[in-house]
Amino acid sequence: MESTLWHPVCASDDLGAAPLAVRLLERDLVLWRDAGGQARAFNDQCPHRGARLSLGRVQGDLLECPYHGWRFEGSGQCVAIPAAPEFTPPAGHRVGCFDVAETAGLVWVRLEASEAALPTIDGEDDPRLRKLTVGPYDVATSAPRIVENFLDLSHFGFVHEGWLGDREHVAQVPYQVSESAAGLLATGCRAWQPQSNRLAQQGSEVEYTYTVPGPYRAMLTKLPQAQSGYRDVIHLFVCPIEPERSRVWFRLALTDFDSSDDDLRAFQHTIFTQDQPVLESQRPRRLPLSGGELHSAADRLSTAYRRYLRQQGITFGVC
Ligand code: FES
Ligand code: CO
Repeated sequence: MESTLWHPVCASDDLGAAPLAVRLLERDLVLWRDAGGQARAFNDQCPHRGARLSLGRVQGDLLECPYHGWRFEGSGQCVAIPAAPEFTPPAGHRVGCFDVAETAGLVWVRLEASEAALPTIDGEDDPRLRKLTVGPYDVATSAPRIVENFLDLSHFGFVHEGWLGDREHVAQVPYQVSESAAGLLATGCRAWQPQSNRLAQQGSEVEYTYTVPGPYRAMLTKLPQAQSGYRDVIHLFVCPIEPERSRVWFRLALTDFDSSDDDLRAFQHTIFTQDQPVLESQRPRRLPLSGGELHSAADRLSTAYRRYLRQQGITFGVC
């Protein structure tokens, strides 16, 4: 099931003229750009003698293997074998290739053809919001543990004390969760935050909305009451590399046009590096979908997320 979904594999800016090795769902891939800038994704294993194509180089519209120089075009077809220049490689001389697309500053790959549409990213086309990609972060846990942490309001006062929360203000007000085939929506979430964003001058009650439009991604919007006109949209995108190893990006869409990219990244970095050690400490690393952990009334959204993963038939990164 997971192989029919689009997954982020690298930031668009990180894929330049050289081939790039990435890993998705326990499979090694090589990404490269052809002369027109079109991103391509192949199996990172040459069909000749198994060398890693990501050690090769891009020659115009062709990817050249590092070992004997076989050259492959964007469709995966081998078109030249330097040691046998008279030989025309037949149709079977090809490397496995996968669908690739780019959106929200990331390169996305789908391992298996499907009806799944490329994610539409809320806020991405809104010129009033400033976009920025933050990451990657390599995290030694499953993708669902990372998504669930992102949806969890009740850790703010402990993990992010002095930033997103205060341990004297952690009691949750009831919030609403609606579940549909399109995903989850939680509204009316509130948190008292000492420093809800980089520009906040004072603590403020912040209203949160969360959406989960796919198994390994989520989005939140934040409206701090003390700062009218301020709106944060933060997307979490997780690449499931292995069942217990993931790569994370955040895509920010903010009303803050004043802060520098570095300052905005530093804020997000501070928050996520507070989360990371706790995330990596959780056992099991895979998210338990059927029992094994205890819940309270404050965990309505995370229990809905677990139910959603079950309904979607997700097996990668869960137990
Ligand atoms: Fe790739 Fe020989 S292993 S060309
Ligand atoms: Co956190």
